[in-house]
Amino acid sequence: MSNTFGTLLKLTTYGESHGESIGGVLDGCPAGFCVDVSKIQEELNKRKPGTNTWTSPRKESDEVQILSGIYQGKTLGTPIGFCIKNEDKKSEHYQNLENVFRPSHADYTYQAKYKHRDARGGGRSSARETACRVVAGAIAQQILAQISSIVVQSYVCQIGDICLPQEKADIVNVAQYVLQMPNHEYQDQAIAKINALKEIGDSVGGCIQTIVSHAPVGLGEPIFDKLHAKLAYAMFSIPAVKGFDLGQGFTAASMLGSQHNDAFYTDENGNIKTTTNHSAGIQGGISNGEEILFKTAFKPVSSIKIPQNTVNKAGEAEMISIQGRHDPCVVPRAVPIINAMTALVLLDFILQDRAKSF
Ligand SMILES: Cc1cc2nc3c(=O)[nH]c(=O)nc-3n(C[C@H](O)[C@H](O)[C@H](O)COP(=O)(O)O)c2cc1C
Repeated sequence: MSNTFGTLLKLTTYGESHGESIGGVLDGCPAGFCVDVSKIQEELNKRKPGTNTWTSPRKESDEVQILSGIYQGKTLGTPIGFCIKNEDKKSEHYQNLENVFRPSHADYTYQAKYKHRDARGGGRSSARETACRVVAGAIAQQILAQISSIVVQSYVCQIGDICLPQEKADIVNVAQYVLQMPNHEYQDQAIAKINALKEIGDSVGGCIQTIVSHAPVGLGEPIFDKLHAKLAYAMFSIPAVKGFDLGQGFTAASMLGSQHNDAFYTDENGNIKTTTNHSAGIQGGISNGEEILFKTAFKPVSSIKIPQNTVNKAGEAEMISIQGRHDPCVVPRAVPIINAMTALVLLDFILQDRAKSF
């Protein structure tokens, strides 16, 4: 399996949903940067289940324990090891899933590829693993704040067919909105939709918009490690992600060159800027100093109570109704995961730039 992400800044995660713990090692952090563990915990709290009626009722305190690499509140330059205990395991909910494949989950493909798997809570394929990314990303965000002016912000811009236009989004206050959808009118509609779907045992997907401000010019390593290629790779590694849209995305295909091109000008400080930002802050795989804008699409999660047709390990037809503890909509909990993966990508590129700048 591929359990490590990053080039100079490398995150390796371990753990299954119902094992003793999950955790990881973040290697490649330079020494001497301040890390506030309470800020890591704040990010973890945004992702953890059981905080409201729309998320999985699994109750996890998700308290991170730092095992190495940070001493007296500062990075040592050594690997940062950390773990989070799995406290609320109800593996009995998953006993029938040892033999039956949940439609559109990872059960069939893991079984076919590895022949032996931990089916409890989805095992390694469970999004519980993403808590480790949030820990590493929160460390990366704190380091970014000490070496740059970069700000990474994400918010829920769509739940099902309810789409929040960017001009109506109260982006600076995202954290104050329970669904991370920063507009009360749209959020209320989304809550009503999720509640109705929960009632009938169905699920719904949605999209998260990310805005990276004040990124310096020059991040990204063409040819293969273009900035947008690495961001897309990072986002697609998150469970349930089915789409990545950079700036205009697929709508660019129906625009004319004269509409899509971003005209250059020089501002009062002598910086080269663009009048529009259809390139979403990246040209040729390198950041151009404008805002980096992308959208990530999540499918409706597959564990639903509505009965579905499936087969068991022997290939025999069965009906399945999934009873465990599942989110009817995972999109709000994915906001800190997206911010974490974005911060890891950006810090990795900054480190690569510095490594080459002698
Ligand atoms: C924060 C988060 C929570 C999730 N919770 C669930 C869940 O409760 N039930 C479920 O079936 N899938 C859940 N998923 C999605 C599955 O992990 C994912 O669909 C599965 O691993 C198969 O991968 P794929 O959808 O990328 O093909 C969640 C995803 C995220 C990001």
